[in-house]
Amino acid sequence: MEYSFPRYLLSKQSVDDRALNRHVLDSLKANLPAAPIRIIEVGAGIGTMLTRLVRWDVVTKADYILVDEMAENIQTAWDWIPLWAGESGLSVERSEENQLRVFDQTRDIRIRLECADVFDFIQKNKEPADLLIAHAFLDLLPMPESMPRLLALTKHLAWLTINFDGVTSLEPTIDPALDERIERLYHATMDSRVTGGDSRAGRHLFGHLREAGADVLAAGASDWVVHSMNGKYVEDEAYFLHFILHFFEESLTGHSELDTAEFASWINERRAQIERGELVYIAHQMDFLAKV
Ligand SMILES: C[S@@+](CC[C@H](N)C(=O)[O-])C[C@H]1O[C@@H](n2cnc3c(N)ncnc32)[C@H](O)[C@@H]1O
Repeated sequence: MEYSFPRYLLSKQSVDDRALNRHVLDSLKANLPAAPIRIIEVGAGIGTMLTRLVRWDVVTKADYILVDEMAENIQTAWDWIPLWAGESGLSVERSEENQLRVFDQTRDIRIRLECADVFDFIQKNKEPADLLIAHAFLDLLPMPESMPRLLALTKHLAWLTINFDGVTSLEPTIDPALDERIERLYHATMDSRVTGGDSRAGRHLFGHLREAGADVLAAGASDWVVHSMNGKYVEDEAYFLHFILHFFEESLTGHSELDTAEFASWINERRAQIERGELVYIAHQMDFLAKV
């Protein structure tokens, strides 16, 4: 199987659509200032949150800056957002090398794509946004020191979604002791990345936000729950599951506490469970709406 990170982000859309906490989303809608608004999204990947907010009628008129450090993601956003817009009946204009506009009679989103490290972007950004978005991103950053720097990007709201929070569950069980060890070691790799990261980022955000002077307006769980129906996974979710196992493989292959052959056979059996439509994957995560 070929592993493409942009395809993983595409396959994640339907999983995130179900997972996003509706109480927190309602609070976002209730607190958004009148359009047009300025949005900065950091760690934005290929732009799926932007398209979701348009699809869900949360955002109709906005300047939307999308920041991601991976050139492949920004290139995919440049190609994919216009494709999505065309299929959704929106007109598209491209101006300069990194600017897009998607619009119709009621909607108008001016998009700027920034291929940059988030902290370089923070240094050069001049105008804070009405809304900062960080989706499936904060659990990758060093905390608490990143929080005040990120919050400098907004003068009003921060919607911080899909923050991993310490629970991974893969069913059916293969071997209870091995399953438990692999999950524990996988979480430990999130806590020991040199670039930062926290396997309990969700619960810790309450404290990080408070220390950075922000008020939590709403919070709630946004768990990923992926299962088949009549033996089939919806959309591209079988690929999503294979990619999750790829993360396990990348972070744990060669680990001193795992027997290489036993781990390889565990991965193979999990992949076979996907092919049979048996694998159920749950990841506990949390969403926040905060006001600075
Ligand atoms: C798990 S992905 C989520 C992407 C997107 N938010 C989504 O959910 O589709 C995390 C993203 O953060 C980006 N990223 C990681 N570290 C970054 C940094 N220091 N500055 C900017 N982007 C970063 C990665 O390139 C990746 O696209």
